Amino acid sequence: MASHEHSGCPVHADFDPLSPKFLEDPFTVLASLPRERPVFYAPSIGYYVVTRYADIKAVLLDPETYSASPAQLPLAELVPDAALILLGGGHRPQPSMVSLDPPAHTRLRSPTARAFTPGRVAQMEPRIRSTIDQLLDVIDTSAPFELVSTVTFPLPATMIFSFVGIPERDWPQLKEWCGHRAALAWGRPSPEEQVHHATNMAAYRSYLGALVAAKDTAREDDFASALLEIHDEDPKALTHEEIGSILYSLTFAGHETTNYLIGNVVRRLLEDPARWDAVVADPQLIPRAIDETLRYDPPVPVWRRATKRPVKLGDVDLPEGAKLFLWLAASGRDDSVFPEPATFDIHRAETSKSLAFGFGIHYCLGAALGKLEARLVLEALTDHFPRLRLVEGQELSFHPNISFRGPQALWVRAASS
Ligand code: HEM
Repeated sequence: MASHEHSGCPVHADFDPLSPKFLEDPFTVLASLPRERPVFYAPSIGYYVVTRYADIKAVLLDPETYSASPAQLPLAELVPDAALILLGGGHRPQPSMVSLDPPAHTRLRSPTARAFTPGRVAQMEPRIRSTIDQLLDVIDTSAPFELVSTVTFPLPATMIFSFVGIPERDWPQLKEWCGHRAALAWGRPSPEEQVHHATNMAAYRSYLGALVAAKDTAREDDFASALLEIHDEDPKALTHEEIGSILYSLTFAGHETTNYLIGNVVRRLLEDPARWDAVVADPQLIPRAIDETLRYDPPVPVWRRATKRPVKLGDVDLPEGAKLFLWLAASGRDDSVFPEPATFDIHRAETSKSLAFGFGIHYCLGAALGKLEARLVLEALTDHFPRLRLVEGQELSFHPNISFRGPQALWVRAASS
């Protein structure tokens, strides 16, 4: 008997976060769910889905009861060949800090936070601005253009790879590896695809190991070298392998998230041109528009945990080892925290309460950088293209995974075109 059958937990047999209906519009699915069942079991993925703000926050704040271990667990069980390739490539079941619990988590988070200081982020501002200028300068605005491939993807990828210290010639390869990683851990690949993704992820890990070894003898002014300096102080406290794991965290977390954040902000502002016009007239509204998007349409809509012991959540008795699908996007639509949650309102007061960056000991280390990049790009876009509009009639598509969501392409036109 499946564990949820012991607990009297409601079951939604047709809830499938990888179905075309869900990928296209998860918020319509959310609105159709009975509100009196804020925790339910979804057999399609084998997870308990948690929708209420208070429950999700309580889980995130309680690492004693809830483990981060499933954060990067392949959603579909791996075929043995794929699992062996990953293990052989040095990949661990809990491959980096976001899926580790203390004290292993603290070992990685502390040096990362030391090397990734607010000062280092602030220093990136001139580079972010000049990168945005370069990206915008080459766009031909006489015709409609596609914003994801020209701006929202290349900007964060450029910033995080150069920050970490990845040589520019390797950036396309890194981007490709990150795509394999997203598909394997958060999607539903076929057995053949799993083997293909696993082979690429093993190559990705081994590349980072070689990079750490190379940087060790040729330090530069970058994040990898800053971690190596921390290693020098006490090599046992932070090993080369652990540095590789931290780079594995940042090279992935640092771009797809921000790409989707920017795409979602631009989409939501342009959906109602009056919103875009308001931001053009008053650029001070940009940070609020970003925060409101993080609540209304977050780029990381789902994060995961597992119970370490039997516990009651909402009205449901969860057994030990229950896997939880924390629906962060649903928490942003909880009307006990955000009045009229289905309304996108750039003047909203409560946006800072959003759980879009998580909460507690795993709170996103890149939140300031992601928001800085989004603000600077929005300032530049509203300045360059005050009459920007969406190309009418386009159908948006979304990558088939549970945890990273934003338009794959966004066609726009500068109004004169
Ligand atoms: C801009 C949009 C972003 C969003 C919405 C986002 C969201 C998240 C979420 C939901 C978590 C998990 C938090 C938890 O378990 O409580 C997380 C963790 C993390 N994020 Fe982000 N993130 C973003 C950007 C970034 C960037 C730009 C970086 C790096 C430069 C980054 C690095 C990390 C790292 C290293 C962790 C793991 C922290 C830990 O386990 O202690 N993120 N992020």
